[in-house]
Amino acid sequence: MVRHRHPHFHLLLSLLLLLLPLILSVNEEGFYLQRAKLGFDDPNSVLSNWNSTDDTPCKWNGVVCDSTSSVTSLDLSSSNLSGPFPSILCRLKSLTFISLYDNFINSTLSESDLSMCHSLEHLDLAQNYLTGALPHRLPDLPNLKYLDLTGNNFSGNIPESFGTFPSLEVLSLVENLIEGTIPSFLGNISTLKQLNLSYNPFSPGRIPPELGNLSDLQVLWLTETNLVGEMPNSLGRLGRLTDLDLAYNSLSGSIPSSITELTSLVQLELYNNSLTGELPTEGWSKMTSLRRVDASMNGLTGRIPVELCDLPLESLNLYENRLEGGLPDGIANSPNLYELRLFQNEFSGELPSNLGKNSALRWIDVSTNNFSGGIPENLCSGGALEDLLLIENSFTGRIPVSLTECRSLLRVRLRQNRFSGEVPAGFWGLPHVSFLEFSGNEFSGGIAKNIAGASNLSQLILSENNFSGGLPEEIGFLDNLLEVSINGNKFSGPLPSSVVNLGQLVKLDLHGNEFSGGIPSGVRAWKKLNELNLANNGFSGNIPEEIGDLSDLNYLDLSGNQFSGKIPVELQNLKLNRLNLSSNHLSGDIPPMYAKGMYKDSFSGNPGLCGDIEGLCDGSGVKNRGYIWSMRLIFVLAGLVLIVGVVLFYFKYEKFKKAKKSIDRSKWTLMSFHKLGFSEDEIMDALDEDNVIGSGSSGKVYKVVLSNGEVVAVKKLWGRSKSITESSDLEKGGSIQDNSFDAEVETLGKIRHKNIVKLWCCCTTKDCQLLVYEYMPNGSLGDLLHSTKSGLLDWPIRFKIAMDSAEGLSYLHHDSVPPIVHRDVKSNNILLDVEYGARVADFGVAKAVDAIGKGSKSMSVIAGSCGYIAPG
Ligand SMILES: *[C@@H]1O[C@H](CO)[C@@H](O)[C@H](O)[C@H]1NC(C)=O
Ligand SMILES: *[C@@H]1O[C@H](CO)[C@@H](O)[C@H](O)[C@H]1NC(C)=O
Ligand SMILES: *[C@@H]1O[C@H](CO)[C@@H](O)[C@H](O)[C@H]1NC(C)=O
Ligand SMILES: *[C@@H]1O[C@H](CO)[C@@H](O)[C@H](O)[C@H]1NC(C)=O
Ligand SMILES: *[C@@H]1O[C@H](CO)[C@@H](O)[C@H](O)[C@H]1NC(C)=O
Ligand SMILES: *[C@@H]1O[C@H](CO)[C@@H](O)[C@H](O)[C@H]1NC(C)=O
Ligand SMILES: *[C@@H]1O[C@H](CO)[C@@H](O)[C@H](O)[C@H]1NC(C)=O
Ligand SMILES: *[C@@H]1O[C@H](CO)[C@@H](O)[C@H](O)[C@H]1NC(C)=O
Ligand SMILES: *[C@@H]1O[C@H](CO)[C@@H](O)[C@H](O)[C@H]1NC(C)=O
Ligand SMILES: *[C@@H]1O[C@H](CO)[C@@H](O)[C@H](O)[C@H]1NC(C)=O
Repeated sequence: MVRHRHPHFHLLLSLLLLLLPLILSVNEEGFYLQRAKLGFDDPNSVLSNWNSTDDTPCKWNGVVCDSTSSVTSLDLSSSNLSGPFPSILCRLKSLTFISLYDNFINSTLSESDLSMCHSLEHLDLAQNYLTGALPHRLPDLPNLKYLDLTGNNFSGNIPESFGTFPSLEVLSLVENLIEGTIPSFLGNISTLKQLNLSYNPFSPGRIPPELGNLSDLQVLWLTETNLVGEMPNSLGRLGRLTDLDLAYNSLSGSIPSSITELTSLVQLELYNNSLTGELPTEGWSKMTSLRRVDASMNGLTGRIPVELCDLPLESLNLYENRLEGGLPDGIANSPNLYELRLFQNEFSGELPSNLGKNSALRWIDVSTNNFSGGIPENLCSGGALEDLLLIENSFTGRIPVSLTECRSLLRVRLRQNRFSGEVPAGFWGLPHVSFLEFSGNEFSGGIAKNIAGASNLSQLILSENNFSGGLPEEIGFLDNLLEVSINGNKFSGPLPSSVVNLGQLVKLDLHGNEFSGGIPSGVRAWKKLNELNLANNGFSGNIPEEIGDLSDLNYLDLSGNQFSGKIPVELQNLKLNRLNLSSNHLSGDIPPMYAKGMYKDSFSGNPGLCGDIEGLCDGSGVKNRGYIWSMRLIFVLAGLVLIVGVVLFYFKYEKFKKAKKSIDRSKWTLMSFHKLGFSEDEIMDALDEDNVIGSGSSGKVYKVVLSNGEVVAVKKLWGRSKSITESSDLEKGGSIQDNSFDAEVETLGKIRHKNIVKLWCCCTTKDCQLLVYEYMPNGSLGDLLHSTKSGLLDWPIRFKIAMDSAEGLSYLHHDSVPPIVHRDVKSNNILLDVEYGARVADFGVAKAVDAIGKGSKSMSVIAGSCGYIAPG
C-alpha cells in the first residue's frame, strides 16, 4: 500500500512549524529547546521536566533566563546525553553560556553550527565524542572568551583563523588528535590567559617564541606535545604566568636564565625532557610566588642554587638528574615544604639539620645519592611524614628517638647505608607503617615487642645487619605481613609458635642466622607462601609433612641445619623451582619423584640418605675414596683412550668434514637450569636436517631423541656477534641485546610451572645458540588451528587451552619473582602436549635475533625482569 503525499505537504509542514509555538503554550525559545531535546538520546531522563506546556523554559533543568525570560545559559554537563551537537541552540539570541561538558555528543562541529551563536561567550564541550576538524569560523564569534574542547577526537591542524580570536581568554584543546606543530600565530591572541594544548600527537616542533607576546597569559600547559629544541628566551616576558608546564617533551639545551623573570610563577614543571646545563644560578629571589618546581628526569648538572632554596617552596622535585653538591640549608626554612624528591643524583654532604622543623614534611626521597651524616632530628616535627626513603647513601648514626613519635610514617626504607645502633623500641610499633627496610646497615639489638602495634606492616626487611635476640611472639599477630626477610643477622632462639598465624605470608627468609628448635606445627596456614628459606641456622627436628600442603611454595631451602628423620613424601605435591635439603641429618628414603640423579645436590651432606641416589655421597663425606678411585680409573682409561682416541680421531675428523659443522665445540658454554640427563654433545650430534621439525626467522627447531629415550626440542638460533660487525651502532645495540638475552634466558630457566614450557638448558658459542626445551608433541596452537587437524579442537579442548594459557600468564605476572611480561602472547607461542595441555613458550629469544637485523617482526620479549615495563 503506497500512500501519496499531498503535493503541498512540505508547505503545510513549514506552516505548521511556524505556527507551532503559537499553538503550544511555550514561547519561541522553549520551542527551540524542545527541538534540541528531540535530537538527544537521554537515557537518564535528565530533560524530563522540559515540558512543552510550560510558558517559558526558565525553570527547565539546566536553563537560566534573564529578567526578560530570555535564555542566557544552558548547562547540561554530565547528563549522559548522546547525539549530534544541537546547532539550533544558536537561535537563542541571548545565549551566552553553553556547557555540554562530559556527555556523549558524537558528531562533527560543522561551520554553520556555531557561527550563528553571536552572543556566545562560554563554550564548554569538553569530554565528549566530537570528531573531525576544528571549526575554523569559531573566531567569528565576537564575544567568545572561553573555548574548552578538551577530551574529544578533533583532528587536523589548528586552523590559521585561530590567530584572530578577538577576545578569547581560555583555549583548551588538551587530549585530542590534533596534528601539525604548535603554530606561532597563537601568539596573536593577545587576550589569552590560558593556553592548554597538552596530550596531542603534534609533530616535533619548537615552542614558538611568539608565545612570549601573550602578556596576559597565566597558564601555559604544553605537556607531551612533542616539543624539541631550546626553550625560547621570550618566555621570560610572560610576567603574569603562574603555571608553566612543559613536561614530557624533548626540550634540550639549558633552562634560559630569563625564566627567573617569571615573577608570578607558582608552578614550574619541566620534568622528563633532555635539558642540560645548570639551573640558572641567580634571580630566583624575585620569584616569590614559586611554590612547586619539578625539573626531574633531565640531564641537569651543577648544584642547587642557594636562592632557589630560600623561596617558600612546597615541592621540589629534581630526581634523576646529575646534580651534585649539598642541599642548601635554606630549603629547611620554607614553611610550606612537604615534598622533596632528589633521588638518583650525585648529591653529597649532610641533610640540613633543620629539615622538617619549619614545615610539615610529607615525602622525602633522597635515595641513590651520596648523602652522609645522620637523619635530622626534626624531620617529623610537622607530624605528617609518610615516606622516608634514604636508600643507597652513606648515612650514619642511629635512628633519632624523636622519630618514634612519627605516627604518620608509612614507608621507611634505609637500605644500604651505614646506620648503626639499636632501633628505638617505639619505632618498631609505628601504627601505620607498612614497609620497614633496614637491610645492608650495621644495626644491632633486637626487634622490640612493640612491633605488635605495627598492625599494617606488610614488609619487614632487616637483611644483612647485626640484629640479634629472638623473634618476639608478637610478630605473629601482624595479619598483613607479606614478607619477612631477616637473613644475615644473629637472630637466635626458636621461632615463636605464633608465626604460623601469618596467613598472608609470601616470603619467609631467615637464612644465615642462629635460630634453633623445630618448625612449629600449623605451617599449613601459610597458604600463600612462595619462598621458605631457613638455610644455615640451627633448626632441628623433623621436616613437617604439612609443608607439602603449601601449594604456592616454589622455593624451599632448609640446608645447613640439623633437621633429622625422614623427608616427608608429601613434598612431591609441590612444584619447586628450588629444593635444597642438603647438609642436615636426614635419613630414610628420598621420595621417589626426587630420587633422581638430577636432584643429587638437593640432598647431599645427609649421611643417612647415602645410596638412595647414585653418586649422592661421591662429592661429600667420602671425597678421598672417590678421589683414589678416580685416579685408578684415569690411569686405566688413559691407556685405552690413547689407542681408541687415535682411531676415533680419524673417523670423527672425517665426519666433521662431511657434516661441515662449522661449530667450534671447545668454545661451547653450557647453561643448564634443571638437572640434565644428557650432555650437550649428544644434542649436537643429533642436529641433522632429518630432524628439523620447524624453522622460522629466528632459526631452526629440531626434534632430538636422546639415548635415554627422552625427547627434547632444540632451537638453534642463528647469528650472534658475527653478523653485526657492519655498523657500530648495531654492534652496540647487539651487545646490549646479548646481555639482556642472557639475563632473560636465566630468568626463564628458573621458572617451573605446568603451563610454561620448560627450558632445559642453553648452549652458546660465538656463532650460535642452542636452546633445549621439553618436546611438545602437538606443536603450536597456531599451527594446529590453521592446519587440517583444526577439527580436533572441540570446544572443551579450546576452553582448556585458554585456561591453561591464562594460568601460565597469571603465574608470570603474579607469582613469579620478579614478575615477567611476555609481550607476545599469540597462538604460535602456545604449545600443546600429548593431552592438549597448553604451555606458554618463546620468551625473549626472538628479540636477540631482531636486533641483529633479520627484520623479523614476530616473536617475543621478556619485558622487564622487574615487572615495571608495560607491554609494548
Ligand atoms: C507537563 O505539565 C503538565 C501540567 O503541569 C502535566 O500535566 C504533564 O504531566 C507534564 N508532562 C510531563 C511530561 O511532565
Ligand atoms: C550517567 O550514567 C552513569 C553510569 O551509567 C550514572 O552513574 C550516572 O548517574 C548518570 N548520570 C546521570 C545524570 O543520570
Ligand atoms: C551517536 O550516538 C548515538 C547513540 O549512541 C548513535 O545512535 C549514533 O549512531 C552515533 N552517531 C555517530 C555519528 O556516531
Ligand atoms: C577517539 O580516538 C581514539 C584514538 O584514536 C579511538 O580509540 C577512539 O575510538 C576514538 N573515539 C571516537 C568516539 O571516535
Ligand atoms: C599575527 O600577527 C602578525 C603581526 O601582527 C601578523 O603579521 C600575522 O599575519 C598574524 N597572523 C595571523 C595568523 O593572524
Ligand atoms: C588549563 O590548565 C590549567 C593548568 O593545568 C588548569 O588549571 C585549567 O583548568 C585548564 N583550563 C581548562 C579550560 O581546561
Ligand atoms: C611577537 O613576538 C615575536 C618574536 O618574539 C616578535 O618578532 C614580534 O614582533 C611580536 N609581535 C607582536 C605583534 O608583538
Ligand atoms: C619521558 O617521555 C618520553 C616521551 O616524551 C617517554 O617515552 C618516556 O617513557 C618518559 N620517561 C619516563 C621515565 O617517564
Ligand atoms: C661518598 O662520600 C664519602 C664521604 O662522605 C666519600 O668517601 C665517598 O668517596 C663518596 N662516594 C662517591 C661514590 O662519591
Ligand atoms: C595500610 O597500608 C596500606 C598500603 O600498604 C594503606 O593503603 C592503608 O591505608 C594502610 N592502613 C592504615 C590503617 O594505615
